[in-house]
Amino acid sequence: VRKVIFDTDPGVDDAMALMFLARRPELELIGVSTVLGNAGIEQVTRNALFLRDRIGFDAPVAQGSGVTLAGISGNEALHVHGRNGLGDIAVPEGAAGPLDERRGHRMIIDLVRAHPHEVTIIAVGRLTNLARALEKDPEIARLVREVVVMGGAFGTHGHTGNVSPVAEANLFGDPDAADIVFTAPWPVTIVGLDVSQEVVMDEGFLRCLGESGGEDGRFLRDVSRFYQEFHRRSRGLDGIFAHDSLAVAFAVRPELFTLRRGPVRVVSNGLAVGQSIQKPEGAPFPPGGAWDAHPAQSVATGIDTSGFLRLYAET
Ligand code: BDR
Ligand code: CA
Repeated sequence: VRKVIFDTDPGVDDAMALMFLARRPELELIGVSTVLGNAGIEQVTRNALFLRDRIGFDAPVAQGSGVTLAGISGNEALHVHGRNGLGDIAVPEGAAGPLDERRGHRMIIDLVRAHPHEVTIIAVGRLTNLARALEKDPEIARLVREVVVMGGAFGTHGHTGNVSPVAEANLFGDPDAADIVFTAPWPVTIVGLDVSQEVVMDEGFLRCLGESGGEDGRFLRDVSRFYQEFHRRSRGLDGIFAHDSLAVAFAVRPELFTLRRGPVRVVSNGLAVGQSIQKPEGAPFPPGGAWDAHPAQSVATGIDTSGFLRLYAET
């Protein structure tokens, strides 16, 4: 059983991923840290506490960063995830259990140090907490088993961005943090739009979850309605992208994915801010410090779509 920290900005697809994670016997959730993104930090933290009650897991929830490394708040995605970040389902005020006293990045450091070489971090929001944890305690990079990130877009299958022609939301939201996380000496697998936009949970799939998935299925169906409407309006899709659940799926069944190795950098400013770029191993470019000084990471470029959907539905 793998110990997992889930770093998240819930978020409809975050909520769907958290339930998936909590129900997988191979994964043991040991902590949840929140980060601004789909909604502001107070709201996403309230949502994480609510989800702990609703899903029923007993790991600590710690509030993480409410601003980017550059000190910016805002840029939320309420048009995608609803005013409350959870598709405007009812989230009772103040009814949920206690918030951990530590800041998100501090809890990450403590958990990694408490279980050296055992912890997988699944990060499905902006990478601010992970970057702060590395900044405060660089040694944790050697103590983490693996980092799986939902973020980025590398152009496979034509997927290059969802908030600009070249940028995906989690990286665009804090590009400095993403560049720190991808260039640190720990093994990172990046599950971006290249694969997450290849998978659609369509109306039939969601209806089936709602009708045959018991309590959990009904919750997934309800929480995804607003998000589904957004996909219909903005893309004419009869369904949703499950983004964050793909990162969880990688931790459960890596064999569903095709990976490409090579150093990865993130553009920190200018027109292409938030763009993620990999220099694939063996690429015919001259060696250069901007790339070759950094460790090779894995980028997901292919996914067994029906294998993923089957795994999610069965879970
Ligand atoms: C990512 O951005 C967030 O809005 C989603 O929760 C997901 O993590 C998709 O670009
Ligand atoms: Ca997310």
